[in-house]
Amino acid sequence: EEYTSALRLVGQSRTLRSSAWGVGLLIALALGAALLIVHWLTRRLTRLAEEMDAFRESDFSQTPGLTCPAGPPGDEIDTLGLTFRDMSRRIVEQIGRLREVDRLRRELVANVSHDLRTPMASIHGYLETLLLKDSALAPGDRRRYLEVALKHSEGLRTMVSELFDLAKLEAREVEVRFEPFSLCELGQDVLQRFELPATDKGVDLHRELSSSLPMVTADIRLIERVLVNLIDNAVRHTSEGGRVSLVCHLDGEAVLVQVTDTGPGIPALELSRIFERFYQARGTGADAEEGAGLGLAIAKRILELHDSVLSVRSVPGEGTSFVFTLRIAEPAQPRELPQASVLTEKAAG
Ligand SMILES: Nc1ncnc2c1ncn2[C@@H]1O[C@H](COP(=O)(O)OP(=O)(O)O)[C@@H](O)[C@H]1O
Ligand SMILES: [Mg+2]
Repeated sequence: EEYTSALRLVGQSRTLRSSAWGVGLLIALALGAALLIVHWLTRRLTRLAEEMDAFRESDFSQTPGLTCPAGPPGDEIDTLGLTFRDMSRRIVEQIGRLREVDRLRRELVANVSHDLRTPMASIHGYLETLLLKDSALAPGDRRRYLEVALKHSEGLRTMVSELFDLAKLEAREVEVRFEPFSLCELGQDVLQRFELPATDKGVDLHRELSSSLPMVTADIRLIERVLVNLIDNAVRHTSEGGRVSLVCHLDGEAVLVQVTDTGPGIPALELSRIFERFYQARGTGADAEEGAGLGLAIAKRILELHDSVLSVRSVPGEGTSFVFTLRIAEPAQPRELPQASVLTEKAAG
């Protein structure tokens, strides 16, 4: 009996031992699995942290590469990685834009100081000469010096106010007041202003403005500015016997406006640059002192605020043509009808 109970004990302890082994194995397996999972998780987090470090070291200028291994789609680390990459892409974009703005601002300041310095130096020189040589100067010379100084100071005033306007247009600080108006009337008004300088130069001012043209919706003050800038350029660049024309005609849902001249034209290589601020093309036959190279930049910006584009076509030796379109105003709603019905309702009530 003792023998059998001893045998049972031995048997029990063997089962005990094997189950203990089993449990131990299970724990070891679970531990191993847990370690693997932790390692796998932390490996992805470590990679992500490395990506962040690399991004910071690149001075936020390069979007980090995709080094973090993919996990089950949509798990938290994946989402974190995606969010981080999306965020860094935006940061790179924003910083790029800020750097571009900063570069443009520096360029502008450099250009402005250069363009202001030249006429200022000239004014200074003439005034100084007048002061120093006052009694020795012939009255004719004195007058000429004063005239030159005055011309430069007028140029300076124009330039400063144009710069100010362009800056406001670019910062969208100009309120665009859309209203229906007749381009035909505006065109006539503007052309009238150029009659005297055109006659003086022997340039023919031609117009094709039909009074039956529908009204356009735009800011009349700003469009006037565009026309003045374009016609001013055309008249200035056209020599005696030439012609400047303003043509408006219907083009689908818009009115097409065209300012054409028979001036010297603009060389093809310069054509893409004339809309840049301060750019003045060479060999276009005008007195460079008369402008600051801002007129076309202003016109282009104004039309952009009207969702329109200023385009140019030019053939050297033949002439230049600037074109843009403006949306026509909605046909006015017949007002009488609703009023009449209100009246009849009232009358009926
Ligand atoms: N109608 C034109 N014919 C020839 N060249 C032109 C004409 N309009 C503009 N340009 C060229 O484009 C340049 C830029 O014009 P703009 O911005 O109005 O500046 P600005 O008139 O002050 O020189 C001019 O300097 C000139 O070289
Ligand atoms: Mg001009």
